[in-house]
Amino acid sequence: MMNLTLKVWRQANADAKGKMETYQMSEVSPDMSFLEMMDVLNEELIEKGIDPVAFDHDCREGICGMCSMFINGEAHGPDRLITTCQLHMRKFKDGDTITIEPFRAKAFPVIKDLTVDRSSFDRIQQAGGFVSVNTSGNTQDANAIPIDKYDADKAFDAAACIGCGACVATCKNASAMLFVSAKVSQYALLPQGKVEATDRVLNMVNQMDEEGFGNCTNTGACEVECPKGISLENIARMNREYLYASLKG
Ligand code: SF4
Ligand code: FES
Repeated sequence: MMNLTLKVWRQANADAKGKMETYQMSEVSPDMSFLEMMDVLNEELIEKGIDPVAFDHDCREGICGMCSMFINGEAHGPDRLITTCQLHMRKFKDGDTITIEPFRAKAFPVIKDLTVDRSSFDRIQQAGGFVSVNTSGNTQDANAIPIDKYDADKAFDAAACIGCGACVATCKNASAMLFVSAKVSQYALLPQGKVEATDRVLNMVNQMDEEGFGNCTNTGACEVECPKGISLENIARMNREYLYASLKG
């Protein structure tokens, strides 16, 4: 069992001035997940009549991408290739101080405490992250289209992006290039995605710029903190797609 000091960002709403609050936790089991530890903190706060800490979560198994916490200066905490909900308290030591902040970026405004508005990602996705399929009954069986194994694997790897925003929170420029490039790449590599490829990359990149994300300066921090191991090669692919689409357009 561990005793911990938590320094947690508290902010009542988007317009309020936030600040760090300090809470003591005792008897924390190393087998707890980080979010279970946060649940215990909130139960204790409620018992004391204090507003519990607002934080996002849904699946708690690394799929939904909601649990956007910046822990000890790292998106999703000190472990690699996992989300905050998959982080376990055994990664910390008795007596540790843990700093917990929201994902910070101009395009991710704080809603309350650790909860941020990532609807900018939804709008980028809506700008082109889809394939239009005629569902009139004449739809071609996807299995009837042969796809090179190399391309299928690369597309699958890109499609693993869960839209968590860790790449943005980690980047010193708050760039969304890793996210957008994953969403562009998963279609760019497949024949089904070729039809709308030009519009897709132009529209998604334009939307990304409109949302106020910063520029990519090839720092590579996004790739290190991405819980799904999305590769920087997707950014190179998107840049090629964008250049080709710009010349074509
Ligand atoms: S690229 Fe990685 S870090 Fe960025 S949104 Fe997708 S899964 Fe999250
Ligand atoms: S709660 Fe779904 S990925 Fe963490």
